[in-house]
Amino acid sequence: MTSSSAANSGRSRADVDLSVAIGALRFRSPILAASGTFGYGLEFAHLVDLNRLGGLVTKGLSREPIEGAPAPRLCETPSGMLNAVGLQNVGVRAFVEQKLPALRKFDVPVLVNVFGYCQEDYVEVIRVLEDTEGLVGYELNISCPNVKKGGLQFGNDPIGAAEVTRMARKAAVKRPLWVKLSPLIADIGLMAKALEAEGADALTVANTYPAMAVDHRTRRSRLGNLTGGLSGPAIKPITLRLVWEASKAVKIPVVGLGGIETASDVLDYILMGATAVQVGTASFTDPRVSERLEAEVRDALFVSNLLNISELRGKFHAVIG
Ligand SMILES: Cc1cc2nc3c(=O)[nH]c(=O)nc-3n(C[C@H](O)[C@H](O)[C@H](O)COP(=O)(O)O)c2cc1C
Repeated sequence: MTSSSAANSGRSRADVDLSVAIGALRFRSPILAASGTFGYGLEFAHLVDLNRLGGLVTKGLSREPIEGAPAPRLCETPSGMLNAVGLQNVGVRAFVEQKLPALRKFDVPVLVNVFGYCQEDYVEVIRVLEDTEGLVGYELNISCPNVKKGGLQFGNDPIGAAEVTRMARKAAVKRPLWVKLSPLIADIGLMAKALEAEGADALTVANTYPAMAVDHRTRRSRLGNLTGGLSGPAIKPITLRLVWEASKAVKIPVVGLGGIETASDVLDYILMGATAVQVGTASFTDPRVSERLEAEVRDALFVSNLLNISELRGKFHAVIG
């Protein structure tokens, strides 16, 4: 039953406040476009009103341009998708010269997703971005091999993750620093605490899950890069638990993502402690998904008699049985 009209008498859906604060940043909606699934934003400007997005996170940027992995780079799987893009990007300097001036014309909070293969790479990308205008923050992608530790991913190694966060924190003088966790960690609470202690302003939970799709007839991988990252609805239940564990462990905000397609998905992440969410794979089938979700979330909150999304945050009843 939708008792909204009675319980919210005098109020309308437009009164539902979806704005959220993440540290010093304020977002008009908690739904952001996720890194790597929304290009540099500009590619979507003819399809989506960028000014209506909660925010967007650019494709990962590195010190130098990267051509990426051989085709095929995407492969559908049951309830999900595998990708092996190989972190293709134009490099931070070309982003600043060729993409950022156009992006600045939109009224949308833009975070840059930053990655590297050693700590110095991360620091250099941030150093270049520090001299620019038109960005609200940085998101570190730590699901990358650390060449100085034999290829062990920063994100799987609490010491490596803490070190790169510390260095990035020192470099990021002007703007907030979010760290995007790898889902492949033994204890996400410990990792979250370590990164909070190093000065992360927020944690994004989480990246894709290493996975494979093969064809027994050709005996080959369905991806040019052999392995890839699993995303989409298949990962939501796994990541939802990670968001819960991480948000219990830290005081800084957690941004949840993984398999969000519906308003219920958004609200499930908020219930488990996320302050905001990001939408990735769903943008491939519907580039305007964020706009649709915003309206649906507003509706869902209104019919639940909630006039502020923050009222739901972290309100999961951990009752056994
Ligand atoms: C094609 C593709 C490219 C991605 N590139 C990046 C990237 O450059 N940096 C990053 O941190 N995450 C990247 N991701 C991970 C997404 O931002 C997101 O964490 C993941 O896909 C889970 O969310 P989803 O299920 O809504 O897609 C990429 C994902 C996809 C599907």
